[in-house]
Amino acid sequence: MAVLVTGGAGYIGSHTSIELLAEGYDVIIADNFCNSNPIVIDRIKELSGKDVICYEVDVRDFEKMEEIFKNNKIDSIIHFAGLKAVGESVEKPIEYYNNNLISTLTIFDLMKKYDVKNFVFSSSATVYGDPHKCPILEDFPLSVTNPYGRTKLMIEEMLKDIAKVDDTMNIAILRYFNPVGAHKSGKIGEEPNGIPNNLVPYITKVAIGQLKEVSVFGDDYPTVDGTGVRDYIHVVDLAKGHVKAIDKLNEKPGLVVYNLGTGVGYSVLEMIKMFSEISGREIPYKIVGRRAGDIAECYADPTKAEKELGWKAEYGLKEMCEDSWRWQENNPNGYN
Ligand code: NAD
Ligand code: UFG
Repeated sequence: MAVLVTGGAGYIGSHTSIELLAEGYDVIIADNFCNSNPIVIDRIKELSGKDVICYEVDVRDFEKMEEIFKNNKIDSIIHFAGLKAVGESVEKPIEYYNNNLISTLTIFDLMKKYDVKNFVFSSSATVYGDPHKCPILEDFPLSVTNPYGRTKLMIEEMLKDIAKVDDTMNIAILRYFNPVGAHKSGKIGEEPNGIPNNLVPYITKVAIGQLKEVSVFGDDYPTVDGTGVRDYIHVVDLAKGHVKAIDKLNEKPGLVVYNLGTGVGYSVLEMIKMFSEISGREIPYKIVGRRAGDIAECYADPTKAEKELGWKAEYGLKEMCEDSWRWQENNPNGYN
């Protein structure tokens, strides 16, 4: 069975492609490499020992995308392609709405035309806004505060409308918490452009000496030590969750929504301490003011995914940090 993976050269898409191949799925990648490197495709082939078809294409380009549907029998689609930086989305809302929404609509049109029924969507815990309590359940109220989050929520709503009128569609909305870590081989991982916005790539760049110190955004939150708490999840666990979601769609469940997190939250200071232990390096940090738009705590209740998908995150914080660090140490300049 063939899975079309849009954004398959990206951080989560590359790890997911490897897990799909390991489970016997054929993988077809569509990526324009706007936030990834074509080398990733060779690494996916090398690590999986299998071939993948890769199309360099902008998913918004209907004609070019149609070639993929014409030339391949696609059973399911995992739609990762999109822009993902919260801060950048505030600066460039048109680019975010254009890329994230038009790419998704193009896929919907092609699914209809070529009768593809199974769709997995990369959503985010960001759709829970500032949750009234933690752990977060899938039926908590949804709200967003920035254009990136709004694209995720809009697409979730489109999917609900589509499922309402077509009960042959099978759709899994996966809400990721904070993906970190890298493949055990140290050959694929996260490669942010420029100075990282997210905590873990920032910490690893400080540990390796490319950045001076971590700015800790606020120590006055009502949390264990005053710093922000998040549910970090190993990217390989997340990737395996996608394979389980594809298996689930083959049972024709209609529309389903799952949190993909561990259920455990760690603070910024706990993360810095763990990285310092793992890397054996000092990780200097300073406390600065809160970052606009940040919330105190965010961690999942992942029991629905466990019950219905038979999926549970297996890696703990130590392995997440070890694998992020191995990737950083082996590839100080990313894929270049
Ligand atoms: P990423 O940037 O590493 O991967 C996205 C991939 O999509 C890249 O390879 C990029 O080149 C490609 N792409 C973007 N626009 C495209 C287009 N129009 N046509 C073709 N290819 C295009 O990001 P990621 O971390 O792997 O995230 C994957 C998905 O998961 C995204 O939709 C993101 O919003 C979502 N998500 C990510 C996180 C996170 O923290 N990483 C959290 C929640 C949700
Ligand atoms: N933080 C710092 N210093 C930094 C970076 C982050 O103290 O340099 C803190 C933040 O304040 C927060 C925690 O580290 O408390 C995690 O921040 P990240 O930027 O790594 O992650 P966020 O939880 O803010 O957001 C991430 C993705 C979003 C996604 C969300 C939920 O960036 O796209 O997880 O999935 F929506």
